[in-house]
Amino acid sequence: MPATKVVVNIPDETPYDVRIGQNILGQLGHALRKLDQFSAIDQVLIITDDNVAPLYLAQTKEALSSAGFRVSDLSVHAGEDAKSLDVAKEIYEAMAMLALGRDCAVVALGGGVVGDLAGFVGSTYMRGVEVVQVPTTLLAMVDSSVGGKTGVNLQAGKNLVGTFNQPAYVCADTTVLMTLDEREWACGCAEIAKSAVIDSDDFFFWLTDAAAALSARDMAATEEAIARSVVFKADVVAQDKTESHGVRECLNYGHTLGHAIEKLAGYGVYSHGACVADGMRFAVRLGMRLVDTPQELVDAQDALLDELGLPKLPSHFEPQAILDAMKRDKKARHGQVRFVLPRDVGDWVLMDVEDDIILEQLQDW
Ligand SMILES: NC(=O)c1ccc[n+]([C@@H]2O[C@H](COP(=O)([O-])OP(=O)(O)OC[C@H]3O[C@@H](n4cnc5c(N)ncnc54)[C@H](O)[C@@H]3O)[C@@H](O)[C@H]2O)c1
Repeated sequence: MPATKVVVNIPDETPYDVRIGQNILGQLGHALRKLDQFSAIDQVLIITDDNVAPLYLAQTKEALSSAGFRVSDLSVHAGEDAKSLDVAKEIYEAMAMLALGRDCAVVALGGGVVGDLAGFVGSTYMRGVEVVQVPTTLLAMVDSSVGGKTGVNLQAGKNLVGTFNQPAYVCADTTVLMTLDEREWACGCAEIAKSAVIDSDDFFFWLTDAAAALSARDMAATEEAIARSVVFKADVVAQDKTESHGVRECLNYGHTLGHAIEKLAGYGVYSHGACVADGMRFAVRLGMRLVDTPQELVDAQDALLDELGLPKLPSHFEPQAILDAMKRDKKARHGQVRFVLPRDVGDWVLMDVEDDIILEQLQDW
């Protein structure tokens, strides 16, 4: 199957390609050599994690060195804890020790954690060097590697320090997804379902038909799901690069309740995707109450999430505790909890919802 190319064209930014396909990692170096920004780049630092390194680091190094790059690599412990200022500092120091100058590039080889961390380091080291994303999880391919959000976590919350910095190139080699476990697969599927509901009938009904194949990791369905998600995200980011025009917030569909459950349960207990899927189930029902969302969408979305291996989570938490967690989220504005509510497929509103309505809805949840 030939690789798919999606061009991300954001106003005031250099357009970049997202390549999606099987066995394309080996061509990474030569693809970079074709970019103007890489004509004078000699040194490349690959940042990865200790799960991904034994699987794909050698191949990535070979792909880059065969195109004439001098390649160094650095591996962090896998997991969300790597997204910290301490780890970022260790990487800056290592880059300085390697005498990497402004004419180097950072390659993020891994899931969203590595992508966010390496993107942050690359966009701040020496006031910014080129960053290439090589996403290796489904979530990173469909979401975090595109759109330029980078960041690290603080004790006070996730992603509280970061930058908006678009990568120069994204290489999504779908063969690497075969080593992903079920939980991470479903996690990516949740973000695909989110995109489909927000985007259009065309994406939603395609995904409904393709859900069983996607769950079974059929390659054609997987590549099309990634391409459709990237096209959707690129379009949203092109309209609202820095989440300041009320458009990019649509990407937070399902995340208001999702973040609260993820936090209350303790990070890692439920996957991020499982929590987002639960948040979508909640938001669509809140939509029925507040914006006349049809029952058909509730049923169709439930069926889709079930098919994608994202069943409803057990409700352990008191409504008030969930509401408090929502209010502490960084997306809450002046203590008002904000939801993306689908009025229908491809038709959404951003709404500040009163506490008593949220509490009532949570009682029924
Ligand atoms: N920047 C954005 O726009 C954006 C969007 C969504 C999420 N995120 C961030 O993404 C992060 C979550 O990303 P994630 O879900 O990819 O998690 P992750 O990076 O922690 O990866 C999940 C696990 O899979 C392992 N792994 C990665 N690729 C693998 C492969 N091919 N085979 C086997 N194992 C593999 C990793 O080592 C890790 O243990 C969060 O920090 C979140 O905040 C960022």
